[in-house]
Amino acid sequence: MPFLRPLLFAGVVLWTAQPQAATVAISCGAVGLELSVCREGAEAWAAKTGHQVRVISTPNSATDRLALYQQLLAAGSADIDVFQIDVIWPGILHEHFIDLTPHVTPERLAAQFETVAANNTVAGRLVALPWFVDAGLLYFRKDLLEKYAIAPPRTWQQLTEAAERIQSEERRADNDQLWGFVWQGRAYEGLTCNALEWVYSRDGGTLIDSRGEVTIDNPRAAAALELAASWIDTITPLGVLNYDEEQTRGVFQSGRAVFMRNWPYAWPLVNGKGSPIAGRVGIAPLPAGGDGGKSTGTLGGWQLAVSRYSQVREEAIDLVLHLTSLAEQRRRAIGAGYYPTWETLYDDPEVLAANPAAHILQAVLEGAVARPSDVTGRRYNQVSNAFWTAVHATLAGRGSAERNLDRLASRLQRLSRRGW
Ligand code: GLC
Repeated sequence: MPFLRPLLFAGVVLWTAQPQAATVAISCGAVGLELSVCREGAEAWAAKTGHQVRVISTPNSATDRLALYQQLLAAGSADIDVFQIDVIWPGILHEHFIDLTPHVTPERLAAQFETVAANNTVAGRLVALPWFVDAGLLYFRKDLLEKYAIAPPRTWQQLTEAAERIQSEERRADNDQLWGFVWQGRAYEGLTCNALEWVYSRDGGTLIDSRGEVTIDNPRAAAALELAASWIDTITPLGVLNYDEEQTRGVFQSGRAVFMRNWPYAWPLVNGKGSPIAGRVGIAPLPAGGDGGKSTGTLGGWQLAVSRYSQVREEAIDLVLHLTSLAEQRRRAIGAGYYPTWETLYDDPEVLAANPAAHILQAVLEGAVARPSDVTGRRYNQVSNAFWTAVHATLAGRGSAERNLDRLASRLQRLSRRGW
């Protein structure tokens, strides 16, 4: 909006119209390097446009972040203009965001991973632009696997055995803090991602299928959860029941775990300068279930959306276009390991050189499993909450997997009766 600015000219004050500088508030994740890379990108936009940005850090847990967003948005708050949203949230939050279709060329949209762009379209409205993709990966200590002549495990059973053996031999040799396998076991969205990988990789389905039918109550899913429960306090510390991504990385990066399940963001950190295990880390697709199962990783990733309550809408849209641009995603990929949503960047030599795991991630993305957020729409968080609660109980020894999945299926059926 123009405002009048006095200009002194030959002793006469003239009033001229000038574009007013706006302040755009953006919420960014703060997991690993996320906040600093977001700040750099947003500040570069501010320097280019003469506007200002306010970068707001949000809780690490996706579940806590959603609760915060829901509170702000339900109140119609204009405190945040640009929201960093999870791949599973368009169906939950779409009403609060503007349609970005008129602001994006069809060519630009077509250059994104198709599934991600489609995921951001709800009822014909493009409610967010893709920012980065994620998929679950297996990190391992190359040095320890080599020491025991063990190949990276291809099945969960092999992982269990490798972890047991390395952990027990190392502990005997005085490495008594070492654990076999760490992952995200807190009762939150991260556990849904981990458990979906165990279940889907054993052909146990996706909780709810693409027609909206509840499928989780099956023996393959139960076997997957029983195996995971057997890890607790054997190859996995009991504390994992309260770990999110960063706590998991903390244990692995300080050299206290052989295997870790995490997202790509951890790679430059565990291998970076100052990491005690730098240069000793390998990365692989997550193991497959035994007979007939397949290797998979849960599909994750984040998008940028503009709040319909924003008072600086045009500037907020411009910031989103800048941050999700090819050049900015390239910078983030090279500098901090965030995987782009622009497909052509996967052929970019500098992006590939900075991300040696890029070819693994690409393969993982092809076999990745999506959470049932599309089919369950606004009810997804309730579905996921019911799932992680049942899984957490099983891991904590409160009931068998079979019984907990049976109860879960009834809960999900009750939810589905009100319509997804
Ligand atoms: C990662 C993923 C996101 C997922 C979250 C769970 O941030 O990108 O999709 O929901 O982890 O903790």
